[in-house]
Amino acid sequence: MPTKSKGAFGGQLRGSGGLGGGILPEFRDMMGPALQHDLTELPGLDYLSAPNGAIATAQAAAAAAFGADETFLLVNGTTAGVHAAVLATCRPGDDIILARNCHLSAFSACVLAGCQPAWVDPVVDPHLGVAHCVTPEVLHQGLAASAAAGRPVGAVLLVSPTYFGACCDIAGCARVCHAAGMPLIVDEAHGAPLAFLRGRDGAPAGALAAGADVAVQSSHKTLSALGQASMLHMRGERVDRRRLASALQVLQTSSPSYLLMASLDAARAAAQQPGAWDAPLHAARLARAGLRALPGLTLLEDFAAAGSPGVHALDPLRLTVAVSGWGFSGRAVAAELDTRFGVVPELATQEVVVFALGAGSARAAGMSPRDAFFAEIEQVPADAAVGRLSAELLCPYPPGVPAALPGEVLTADTLAALRGVLAAGGKVTGAADETLRMLSVIVEHDPQTQMLDCV
Ligand SMILES: Cc1ncc(COP(=O)(O)O)c(C=O)c1O
Repeated sequence: MPTKSKGAFGGQLRGSGGLGGGILPEFRDMMGPALQHDLTELPGLDYLSAPNGAIATAQAAAAAAFGADETFLLVNGTTAGVHAAVLATCRPGDDIILARNCHLSAFSACVLAGCQPAWVDPVVDPHLGVAHCVTPEVLHQGLAASAAAGRPVGAVLLVSPTYFGACCDIAGCARVCHAAGMPLIVDEAHGAPLAFLRGRDGAPAGALAAGADVAVQSSHKTLSALGQASMLHMRGERVDRRRLASALQVLQTSSPSYLLMASLDAARAAAQQPGAWDAPLHAARLARAGLRALPGLTLLEDFAAAGSPGVHALDPLRLTVAVSGWGFSGRAVAAELDTRFGVVPELATQEVVVFALGAGSARAAGMSPRDAFFAEIEQVPADAAVGRLSAELLCPYPPGVPAALPGEVLTADTLAALRGVLAAGGKVTGAADETLRMLSVIVEHDPQTQMLDCV
């Protein structure tokens, strides 16, 4: 197993000094120490297509973290994972049931595998003009249509969450697929955090936990992996593991970048850190409150609440904002945000601007000790204080090392640890309510400004 400090690749990626001859000095300076780790499959390192060393260790750790039977590291993005999943499940001439809002990689997968797309339509939002998800009912009709036409179907490929934050009823769709003997592949490019959010702020389960057979995630989008670095997770027996591994060997380079693979291992470890998602969720809450306070703006969930057609749940870390009430297009607002504030939204259409929060969002949600000292505070039940900025210096005594500082986001883990101290007969100083049933937190008055810092 990887150690906390070094990760699965820590032992391998070091001591390759002497590299860098022949490299443009400006580029060498730009790369810094990272250049020393720009390794590939060399003796003593591992092989991506037949791993039994550092790569195998990283993949096993990822499988455990994401609830997969097996995880494959991808060095050519979710694109390669979608291609491999389709190649592994569909034979030339097969139908593949494809959501019409799939990414272009699903279409190019059909070129590679020689299969025929049988489209199923997602629900389209009449107000925002964006596609939500395919429902289990529509999927059932799609499978029935292929069966009625006597067409062999290799797999079903759906996207969830969408770019705009709508999450599919994966459990319902998996039931439909599995009843028809079909594997369900989910393009979960935007959904890697779901495995760690555990239902917080309305987050649905990740695709694999909800019953998908394969889920492909762009770890470089919403986790902290380097560009191009993604993961494919599989579970169960419906997809042939050997065909999947062969497809990946066909599609991926034989010189995979160890920087990319190490970044995947590190992104997985960071996502598992206690409290890792408290600050991004907090930032998303702040941003939602701030956006709602601005006249003329509406959020996706105001049009399409969780439970409405094609929206089984909403991704709490995605903010889709309708701006037509301002009389501008989404693109114009995005351009203005960039010019005036250096804020680059994830996506803009005519109607909406989309902001993505991920691992690492919201460092700005903290506050200086001085600002925290003079801030307005309120007392709330302890559970409601999680994700808020603590107004108290909460310190188990002894040893007298503060667990939470004024101005710091109070995490669920910190609260659990403090309660553990009390339960064990210890003392926590600094809280107005020494039983910790109520905690003092800072009243945040200006969410609009903080939103711009956070997204
Ligand atoms: C839904 C979806 N699937 C797949 C991809 C491709 O992912 P990657 O860039 O990791 O190849 C994207 C990229 O934006 C996407 O939005």
